[in-house]
Amino acid sequence: MASSMLVKVTCLSMICLVLDIPLANAALSCGQIQLTVAPCLGYLRNPGPSVSAPCCNGLRSIYGQSKSIADRQSVCRCVKGTIFGLPGINLSALSSIAPKCGINLPYKISPSINCNTYFSNL
Ligand SMILES: *[C@@H]1O[C@H](CO)[C@@H](O)[C@H](O)[C@H]1NC(C)=O
Repeated sequence: MASSMLVKVTCLSMICLVLDIPLANAALSCGQIQLTVAPCLGYLRNPGPSVSAPCCNGLRSIYGQSKSIADRQSVCRCVKGTIFGLPGINLSALSSIAPKCGINLPYKISPSINCNTYFSNL
């Protein structure tokens, strides 16, 4: 149970980072995104000096599959709907995880992010 929640949180975090990473052709479901970013959960709950390779690889995978605005919005909603509802997530760690993986996002991931507005302004 707890691990499942953690996975969801991690996935969401990763997704936030990956807001720029739309799901390609909707090939990735929210559940798949969550599983892909699951390795990031540990970092989000207990931030360290670096993000694990599995976590970064998962983020890059999602990022690389983002192609349309609709896909990005789906990822955004998946992340927003999951991660911010979970306890124990360090928002500072969440906002810094993408840069630490070498992924440059033009915005900050936050609980107030508007998936519609953000993506329409890309
Ligand atoms: C979040 O993590 C940072 C280190 O990256 C730490 O300084 C801060 O206290 C943490 N915040 C919470 C609410 O745990």
